[in-house]
Amino acid sequence: MSKLSVTQTQTVMQVQNPLPAHIGFVMDGNGRWATGRNKKRSEGHKAGVKNMQAVVEHCFALGIGCVSVFAFSTENWERPVEEREGLFDLVREYLKRLLGDVNKLKKDNIKIEFMGDLSPFAEQHQDILDGIGEVRQACADCDGGVFNIAINYGGRQEIVAAANNAVLIGKQLSQQDFEKLLYTKRCPPLDMMVRTGGQMRLSNFMLYQVAYAELFFEETLWPDFDKQKLDEVLKKFAQRQRNFGKV
Ligand code: IPE
Ligand code: IPE
Ligand code: MG
Repeated sequence: MSKLSVTQTQTVMQVQNPLPAHIGFVMDGNGRWATGRNKKRSEGHKAGVKNMQAVVEHCFALGIGCVSVFAFSTENWERPVEEREGLFDLVREYLKRLLGDVNKLKKDNIKIEFMGDLSPFAEQHQDILDGIGEVRQACADCDGGVFNIAINYGGRQEIVAAANNAVLIGKQLSQQDFEKLLYTKRCPPLDMMVRTGGQMRLSNFMLYQVAYAELFFEETLWPDFDKQKLDEVLKKFAQRQRNFGKV
C-alpha cells in the first residue's frame, strides 16, 4: 500500500478510533448531479467514477481494510439502454486504466473483486468479463486490502446464490460457513454503510452484511462526496455507541 503523506497521517489522527474494518458505499446521486448542471446523466456517472477512485484510495490510505461500492444493481437493467451501455463503457474504461499499469496494481496490494452475477455479460460484453478476469489475475497475490465493486449485484440474489451453493454442499451450514459462500468471503461484516444522494433506503445492497452496520444517509450527491465529507462521517462513526445487543 502507498505510504501515508504527512497530511494524510494528520487526517488519520483526526478521524480514527475506531475506524470501520469494512465500509460500504451506495454511490447514489450521479444523475441529479449532472442534470443540476445541465449536463447529461452520463457526465454524472463519469464524475462518479472519478470520485469513487479518490474516496476509495483515501479509505485504504487511512487503513480501512475492506471497501465495497455499489456500481450497478440487478434493478439498474431497467434503465434506458443508452444509460446502461454508457455505464458499461465506464466499466470498460476503468478496467483498461487498471490494466494499463499492472505494476501499480501489484504495488498497491489491494485485491480488487467484482461481486455480482456476472453471467449476463457473457452475451454482449465478453470483453468486460475478460478484463475482470485479467484484473483478478493481476491482484491474485494482493493482501493489503479488499476492494469489492458490485456490478449486477443484488443482496437477495447473493443470498439465494449462496443458499443454492449450500444445497450443493449437501449439509447444514453454520453462520460462519455460510458467510464463506457470499461474495464478501474475504471481509468482515460491514461496520458502516454510507448512502449519498438523500434517499433513506438500501436498494438491495449487502442485505446480509449490513445486519449490524452503522448507517449514514448523506444529502450530498455522490460526485460531491469528497475526502473531507468522508472524514466527517468517519468521525461520527467513531462517536457512535455500538451495542451489538448488549447493555
Ligand atoms: C447512482 O446514481 C449510480 C447508478 C445507479 C449507476 P443515479 O444514476 O441513481 O443518480 P440519481 O439517483 O438518478 O441522481
Ligand atoms: C442504487 O441506486 C444502486 C447504485 C447506487 C448502483 P438507485 O438509484 O438504483 O436506487 P433506487 O432505484 O433509487 O432505489
Ligand atoms: Mg439513484
